[in-house]
Amino acid sequence: MMYPEYRPRRLRRTESLRALIRETSLSPKHLIYPLFVIHGKDIKQPIEAMPGCFQFSVDRVIKEAREVFDLGINAVLLFGLPEKKDLAGSHAWIKNGVVQNAVSAIKKSVPDLLVVTDVCLCEYTSHGHCGVLSNGRIDNDATLELLVKVALSHARAGADIVAPSDMMDGRVGAIREALDEQGFDQVPILSYAVKYASSFYGPFREAAECAPKSGDRRSYQMDCANAREAMREAMLDLEEGADILMVKPAMPYLDIIRLLRQEFTLPIAAYQVSGEYSMIKAASLKGWLDEARVVEESLLGIRRAGADVIITYFAKDVARNL
Ligand code: PBG
Repeated sequence: MMYPEYRPRRLRRTESLRALIRETSLSPKHLIYPLFVIHGKDIKQPIEAMPGCFQFSVDRVIKEAREVFDLGINAVLLFGLPEKKDLAGSHAWIKNGVVQNAVSAIKKSVPDLLVVTDVCLCEYTSHGHCGVLSNGRIDNDATLELLVKVALSHARAGADIVAPSDMMDGRVGAIREALDEQGFDQVPILSYAVKYASSFYGPFREAAECAPKSGDRRSYQMDCANAREAMREAMLDLEEGADILMVKPAMPYLDIIRLLRQEFTLPIAAYQVSGEYSMIKAASLKGWLDEARVVEESLLGIRRAGADVIITYFAKDVARNL
């Protein structure tokens, strides 16, 4: 069918027509809101590089979690800033660690809000790497044992989902096995399956105080140039028992989200990371972009590419605006 018989504009004439045939939808139920939890009392500390985001002490994060849930958002993702860092990152798995305390406090006061925990060591190690550092290298298999401890401690605190973000080989399998052994066979793993060594994580490293003291993360996070490798990473995590596969960052990797969507039947998540957030925020604060519209467009794009779930620092704003 060709113009003038076929006129695509016919279906764009009014909002009701456009809504009738809209292919992709966005709802707060698709979103996960990240939260940074810090040691101490009565703290709500603004994160300079991420305007509108804060570090919360455990007592204050409860109130925030309630607000998130009341906006219709189903899930939060917790990151912890420990009291003390050491070589192994031991405060990542202690019983009364900052994340463990936040999980149990939130589950007690907002039981229906899903609490997802980021399982990694970089916020807890004195060197800022995501694994055990030995002779200047990251020791993969020694790291697995520690990640297992972290995941178990989160599950014991009541986490609904654990999300390993370290990019060590074999971690999904190791965590799955340990969870099953300890009676947590109902705790799903949201795997950061395809996580690139991205410069878009810049603002997060201020928020979570976890920039590596030396070197970078390119020996464990993926090369930004690779797509076929993303399929291998996703395949491995699927075989090791991941329940949800994540691609991170989101906007520069929409092709990867689409690839995974086409190849896998598991739910796909995408992480719109700190740099994506700060970019839009900064331009909006300058009056160069219409924030609400740009945010909706960016999230629709990520959904259209194939993501079921989106982790975004805009979740509360979107829920308010929808
Ligand atoms: C921890 C972790 C990072 C992010 C999520 N988990 C930082 C990193 O890998 O350097 C980044 C999230 C963001 O930028 O919003 N490994």
